[in-house]
Amino acid sequence: MYRELQRSIPGLDTIYRLTEALIADHPGDPPRVLVVGAGGGREIEAIGASVPAANLTAVDPSADNLALARLIAGPAPDIRFVEGRVEDLPTDETFDVTTSLLVMHHLPDDGAKLNYLRAIRSRLASGGTFVHADICVDDPDAVQRLASIYQAHASHIGANPEAIQLELRTIPALPVVPPARIETLFAQAGFAPPQEVFRSLWYRCWISGHALTSQKGLQT
Ligand SMILES: C[S@@+](CC[C@H](N)C(=O)[O-])C[C@H]1O[C@@H](n2cnc3c(N)ncnc32)[C@H](O)[C@@H]1O
Repeated sequence: MYRELQRSIPGLDTIYRLTEALIADHPGDPPRVLVVGAGGGREIEAIGASVPAANLTAVDPSADNLALARLIAGPAPDIRFVEGRVEDLPTDETFDVTTSLLVMHHLPDDGAKLNYLRAIRSRLASGGTFVHADICVDDPDAVQRLASIYQAHASHIGANPEAIQLELRTIPALPVVPPARIETLFAQAGFAPPQEVFRSLWYRCWISGHALTSQKGLQT
């Protein structure tokens, strides 16, 4: 069902291939990579061959979702799987590339989104790359406006009707925020303004890193 949901969104696999390319393109030694919300294994599947297993840390609080990621990883005992939230990771280790793909839109905007981003920011090495994808719409009616376009694509490619209904039911119930709010949260967490690199229907992906003046941002 997870694969089917991904297939039903035009081009969604781009965010995983882009992540793989950024890791492969990282200058110097192979980067240390942190996959936040690694459950399901889509990132592991995409980047597993581009980074030594020992450089890869995968964190997710869901034991079931993490089990799927382990299954995808296969016999790669060096990948470090951590059952927990990114906020629970020790802060004395930093990573050159950190991914947060389709995680934050599940968190309420009551401080949880900001705490989540701050936890990632404090584990990102100076000069490191942050890849972030979220469901994000300009206004509350956007999902309804885009729904018929989504349905046209999903039906055209023969997506499972249950997956289509699941997507249409799930998205409006998520605590999503508009792009301006994402930018504010990034600034408050000490990240540089996010650069949008992908957009399809209600899915978006951005690249960022440490803000040059992050101390100011961290205090607001
Ligand atoms: C929709 S899934 C996305 C999984 C994967 N990143 C992908 O793109 O296929 C969201 C995952 O984020 C995990 N998650 C939620 N809050 C988290 C947190 N604070 N730290 C790490 N993972 C979290 C959930 O358990 C879930 O497995």
